[in-house]
Amino acid sequence: MVTTVIPVEPFDLVIFGGTGDLARRKLLPALFQRWRARQMPENARVICVGRQPLSDESYRSRIETSFREFPVPCVEDREALGEFLNGICYARVDVNGSDGWSELRRMLRQDVIRAFYLSVAPSLFGVITAMATEWKLVSPDCRIVVEKPFGHDLASARNLNAELSGRFDERQIYRIDHYLGKETVQNLMALRFGNSLFEPIWNSQYVDHIQISVAESGGIGGRGSYYDEAGAMRDMVQNHLMQLLCLIAMEPPAQFEADAIRDEKLKVIKSLGRVAKDDVVRGQYLSGPGVASYRDECGDPVSETESFVALRVHLDNWRWSGTPFYLRTGKRLRSTLTEVSVAFKDPVHWIFEEQANRKGTSLTIRLQPNEGITMRMTIKDPGPGGMRLTEVPLDMTFAEALGSNAEAMPNAYERLVMDVIRGNQTLFMRGDEVEAAWAWIDPIAAGWADLPGGLYMYDPGSDGPVQSHALLHRDRRDWQGL
Ligand code: BG6
Repeated sequence: MVTTVIPVEPFDLVIFGGTGDLARRKLLPALFQRWRARQMPENARVICVGRQPLSDESYRSRIETSFREFPVPCVEDREALGEFLNGICYARVDVNGSDGWSELRRMLRQDVIRAFYLSVAPSLFGVITAMATEWKLVSPDCRIVVEKPFGHDLASARNLNAELSGRFDERQIYRIDHYLGKETVQNLMALRFGNSLFEPIWNSQYVDHIQISVAESGGIGGRGSYYDEAGAMRDMVQNHLMQLLCLIAMEPPAQFEADAIRDEKLKVIKSLGRVAKDDVVRGQYLSGPGVASYRDECGDPVSETESFVALRVHLDNWRWSGTPFYLRTGKRLRSTLTEVSVAFKDPVHWIFEEQANRKGTSLTIRLQPNEGITMRMTIKDPGPGGMRLTEVPLDMTFAEALGSNAEAMPNAYERLVMDVIRGNQTLFMRGDEVEAAWAWIDPIAAGWADLPGGLYMYDPGSDGPVQSHALLHRDRRDWQGL
């Protein structure tokens, strides 16, 4: 495999929220990697905006310190780090007032690509875009990048969309779901549409069910106040799991092109059926040895927010009618793992003796960590003793198959930020997609209070509440992995 770096055009990237966590931990480290790879042109400029009075020098030295703390890969490359930091400027702007805007305008060049990255609370999207327009920072081709959470429900997402679309064309708006920037998530499309093997059997005639698990061993950390408002459903299902579901379930797009793909994803979301109350399991983690409980971490001793959710979901469309999708995500689970597993039906006519504990053929795509694919196959148990069957994994990890090229894969933010500059919206969510996702989530979240079992507690380091197993056992199935 050849790694090809195609340099992007010169740009001015303005990051609002320049002193925040996302800028320090994800965006600037991602840009540094792209700088090292020589994808960023020498005259690219990154302008980080914040409220604090800081000189360029003191901002750069803060960034250098946090790069060393994390640490960011290749931070020891002093020459590249020095060059990269020199291209970063700091601008103090009062986004609610008039201070700093004219200086910011003076810093922007006319003949380069211009992008604004709103790494701030969604409540500031409206005011920042209004001020940027008033101060004439907005050019006809500029790009605006917004982070999740994109709203809290359908109504708030609609408001945000209205605020943005009042000032920008949809082709200028880049709504980030960083899962779409992950190499292995894009691989779902390569696997499905780049091999003729799978597509003919990728439907309810051959697929028994599909599982999507996004498990994390960490807790909510210092994000208690945000997370307690969101919960696993809004933090993870509405966006990341929904995107995985779309890529797994969508029809082949006619072209590999942003709107062709987003049209197909939208159709998947719109075909999601109503979720019955007994098809939802909500959980929250307790304390364990050396680990605080969810309630202690979020600071609310009676919080009813879920840190785990499992759902049985169905798609009311021609391809998937009758094939359930089981989704689960949670924090403080046994391991950190993102995995999609496609379980195939048995052959229509079974000629062998029935065998207990046979799980059947499945294709598991591990998205992280240890990215790869495992196909579980039925074969004959070798040796004498008649025609006994056994199951073996055909295992491929990308790291083994691709060698050092697998390690050189850009992380999600590296790819996404470069795509913004390139003007490629394929890996970003369109406004109607986000609204459709909320339209499906809202009634489920509105029914929390009426769930038959309420909120189930689970031990940290487990695989969530036992009731999530019951969800599958009821259908004579089992969760895989974890
Ligand atoms: C974020 C969520 O969007 O994704 C976090 O807000 C979650 O709660 C994170 O931990 C997981 O991302 P990743 O890339 O570590 O799988």
